[in-house]
Amino acid sequence: MALWAVVPAAGSGARFGAEHPKQYQRLGDRTVLWHAVQRVACAPGLAGVAVGVAADSPYQDALSGLSAAIYPYEGGAQRVATVLRGLAVLPGAAEGDWVLVHDAARPCLARTDLDRLLAAGGPDGALLAAPVADTLKRGCDDRCLETIARAGLWRAFTPQLFMLGTLRTALEQAIAVGADVTDESSAVERLGLRPWLVAGRNDNIKITYPEDLELAAVVLRRLEREGV
Ligand code: C5P
Repeated sequence: MALWAVVPAAGSGARFGAEHPKQYQRLGDRTVLWHAVQRVACAPGLAGVAVGVAADSPYQDALSGLSAAIYPYEGGAQRVATVLRGLAVLPGAAEGDWVLVHDAARPCLARTDLDRLLAAGGPDGALLAAPVADTLKRGCDDRCLETIARAGLWRAFTPQLFMLGTLRTALEQAIAVGADVTDESSAVERLGLRPWLVAGRNDNIKITYPEDLELAAVVLRRLEREGV
């Protein structure tokens, strides 16, 4: 069974508010996207990475000089469609193969987290995540309506690891019913499966706002210093 990765990178990153989407912002001497792909491509024996991009984006530059086999393709209107298309792009991939799906906007994946995720994989899949640490409020018009008990709540990160056939079925069904799918696990959960939550580092941040870039640069330097 082969191991593949899909990196959806076709979003417009509206919340970031820059001219180019957040995945094309510079981080050190590369882009956010380059680091995200490079870090997931460290998975031992990875056969290749499909990267879903918007046709008019500067992806060629952002994907140059990577050691893994890269398969760029045009993404869809929603993340779920981008990931599903990616599965069809992986050359010779079989339904029993494994697929890591990793956000283009998560450039700070530690090698140790990736190893722990790969070790946890089972038929239901697995994802990196962290228990919620803050007190949670439901708000309306900037007023607190209620406090949500945080026991048992996790923040879902990527990579998320699934069997290709399971992931394809889950995404196709989610699209068919118009389900609101913001990560791959939520589509797989709809099949009645229970992916493993693998506690990951809190510094596996998703670039969302401009100030996240500075933080990511600090985290990357720390990962490099620690050699992970
Ligand atoms: O907007 P958000 O940060 O949740 O997007 C998560 C990931 O999904 C990003 O890597 C983004 O580029 C990707 N995406 C995509 N195709 C879309 C929308 C989002 O590949 N149509």
